[in-house]
Amino acid sequence: MIRSVVRGTGAALPRRIMKNADFEGMVETSDEWIAQRTGIRQRHIAADDETTASLGEAAARAALANAGLTPDDIDLIVLATSTPNNTFPATAVEIQNRLGMQHGFAFDMQAVCSGFVYAVTTADLYIRGGLAKRVLVIGSETFSRILDWSDRSTCVLFGDGAGAIVLEAGEGDGTIADRGVLAASLRSDGTHKEKLFVDGGPSTTGTVGHLRMEGREVFKHAVGMITDVIEATFSAAGITADDLDWFVPHQANKRIIDASAKKLGIAEQKVVVTVDLHGNTSAASVPLALSVAVADRRIKKGDLVLLEAMGGGFTWGAVLVRW
Ligand code: UT7
Repeated sequence: MIRSVVRGTGAALPRRIMKNADFEGMVETSDEWIAQRTGIRQRHIAADDETTASLGEAAARAALANAGLTPDDIDLIVLATSTPNNTFPATAVEIQNRLGMQHGFAFDMQAVCSGFVYAVTTADLYIRGGLAKRVLVIGSETFSRILDWSDRSTCVLFGDGAGAIVLEAGEGDGTIADRGVLAASLRSDGTHKEKLFVDGGPSTTGTVGHLRMEGREVFKHAVGMITDVIEATFSAAGITADDLDWFVPHQANKRIIDASAKKLGIAEQKVVVTVDLHGNTSAASVPLALSVAVADRRIKKGDLVLLEAMGGGFTWGAVLVRW
């Protein structure tokens, strides 16, 4: 059977790093509060000339170089983002143009922080359905543009950045020993909209709006939702937490990551954590964490890797991949 195998990874971060202490003169907060409650120590913030498209392009080029491929080899680009350059056209098409691609097709996927997990699942279906052989899956965000910089309960949490992977059609036996995407589980539930949303949009206010979050409420739901969807993925693949080599969760809060891993029985040393370095970069957080763990040679060919995310909507999901 056809499997969607990861061939390369890449990342791109804005030049400017903002430390927790840099917020101390702006809102009533402290490095200690942010670090203790979230695990975040710094985040990257985009300059005017750094956009979701430019960061996404840079991450895509890095992933292509890592895979030993060129844009000519790609059939499809799926970009997960909630902060597109424009309302339309899709930023994925802008990235396609920046890469010099005049073939294939590209589209955006909007599932907020779960966007990358949704995008990998979608790309996998295009590959297995025979519509594409190689897909660039990108998560790119500039959440700094939609933050209310006077709201201490949200502005300290998010950062900008992009991560990308190249998925390529390969042959497998249909067992979990195969390389590639092995199982996935996606969910959404619109009853929680008011807990995490942006208070603007083209069809309502005609403005871009600002991110609003009842953090404590999101926190309350997060661990249960994350562990449910991971257990569904384990059972679809017929594995347990012990079979995993790496857990690469959405990087929103170290306490959510720790509690989820503990509830699932995933050993601490198998958990990839980058929230300290990047903050919450929404759809970029999982591919950024992946690219860090691949670059430092923790994640190696043949490893069993679990990706997970949860965010606005609510949306949530998990994907199991053999590297
Ligand atoms: O990626 C999408 C998913 N999003 C998430 O997963 C985020 C989920 N939520 C969280 O990570 C946490 O709920 C937060 C980090 C947002 C907040 O942590 P918490 O432990 O739930 O704190 P809290 O909201 O219960 O607030 C505790 C106190 C409050 O003061 P009072 O009411 O106890 O007097 C807040 O006003 O901390 C206060 N506070 C702050 N203090 C200093 C809120 N933000 C700040 C701040 N600095 N930046």
